[in-house]
Amino acid sequence: MLRFMGDYMKNMLVTGGAGFIGANFIRFILEKEPDLNLVNLDLLTYAGHEENLEGIGSSNYFFVHGDICDGDLVAKVIRDHQIDTVVHFAAESHVDRSIVSPGQFIQTNIVGTFNLLETCRLFWQKSGSYSGKRFHHVSTDEVFGMLKIGDPAFTEETPYSPSSPYAASKASSDHIVRSYFHTYKLPITISNCSNNYGPFQFPEKLIPLMILNAVNGKPLPVYGEGQQIRDWLYVEDHCSAIYSILNYGEIGETYNIGGKNQFSNLEIVKSICSILDSYLPNSPYRPHSQLITFVQDRPGHDFRYDMNFNKIQAKLGWAPNYDLEFGLKATVKWYLNNQSWIESVSGNVAFQDWMNKNYINR
Ligand code: NAD
Ligand code: DAU
Repeated sequence: MLRFMGDYMKNMLVTGGAGFIGANFIRFILEKEPDLNLVNLDLLTYAGHEENLEGIGSSNYFFVHGDICDGDLVAKVIRDHQIDTVVHFAAESHVDRSIVSPGQFIQTNIVGTFNLLETCRLFWQKSGSYSGKRFHHVSTDEVFGMLKIGDPAFTEETPYSPSSPYAASKASSDHIVRSYFHTYKLPITISNCSNNYGPFQFPEKLIPLMILNAVNGKPLPVYGEGQQIRDWLYVEDHCSAIYSILNYGEIGETYNIGGKNQFSNLEIVKSICSILDSYLPNSPYRPHSQLITFVQDRPGHDFRYDMNFNKIQAKLGWAPNYDLEFGLKATVKWYLNNQSWIESVSGNVAFQDWMNKNYINR
């Protein structure tokens, strides 16, 4: 059972649990907490796939297909399942899509988060007490803006300075979550995490896209000169960090999560290529690095992120378990071994349309 300030959480709502991190989190927490009742509310957008949850045998797991912006539906789920804990992942999450069509980011990331908070406030207030309740909001390092070489890493006190519509929508949602703590004492926690990678990541994001393109002998589109730096975290480490916050985190607090794995995009792509060279000795595309193609940069591209995660380490005892060498190899292996998953999530017209829109004539 999860421990929380002396109370126990029984009924958890995970939003966006059919997406990349949400699905990994559901697998992680059901393993740790087999008695937990868990409801996954997901709209199954282009990024959400029930296949990500295949094999979950738990009779305590329920899937609800729907929108976090739908007030009646959210109220029904929270009431019917007597939800005491919310772990909120649902979002539009891809920066490039937020540049092409920002509207849905405002709707889901801001209005959807507000709707969840307001429904929890009303329902939990009516139930008499906030005791044993928790709203955990999953956010990103992108709210802090970008760093130059030599700038100190982001801390929880770094002022917000988001660059993209995606980052701005997440920053806005963080502020609304925090306001519910200050104004209504809603028992919230927030985590801001760096770039995740690992199994079940939709192949529009850098690492899975590069793996799939390389395997298929397609160009590897590196934006600009590939010098931007990200702090990469294996997804299981993100899940364990959220689990620590649910168990031991202090109400009203924010925790930064990072991987201490800072590499330029070009270094990441080259590493993927050399892993593939060794895993696929008979590939006609070896050396895979010959496929690297520099393309037009992302508008407003943040140069560097770096997370200082001393607080979660010192106060909750969390640290990442996996380094990039382990995580990248495990991830490449996973994509090589899960061809049918790849076909089912990306072998559709909508994904091809997106690839054409983002990459043709770039
Ligand atoms: P994802 O795009 O893979 O998944 C998002 C999920 O949310 C999908 O299953 C989608 O169907 C669902 N969804 C979208 N709109 C919805 C709506 N209106 N109602 C219900 N469900 C909806 O995203 P991800 O990479 O798993 O990210 C999850 C969360 O973690 C996001 O909040 C993101 O901002 C945050 N985050 C991601 C990263 C990263 O590197 N991927 C890093 C830090 C924080
Ligand atoms: O930092 C956390 C964020 O990480 C999360 O909040 C976002 O949800 C998540 O999508 C991710 O955002 P990024 O923009 O950093 O991830 P992406 O995989 O899109 O890009 C990583 C870097 O690689 C970025 O500098 C852009 C570059 N890139 C990306 C793609 C898709 C390329 O060079 N070529 C590409 O084709």
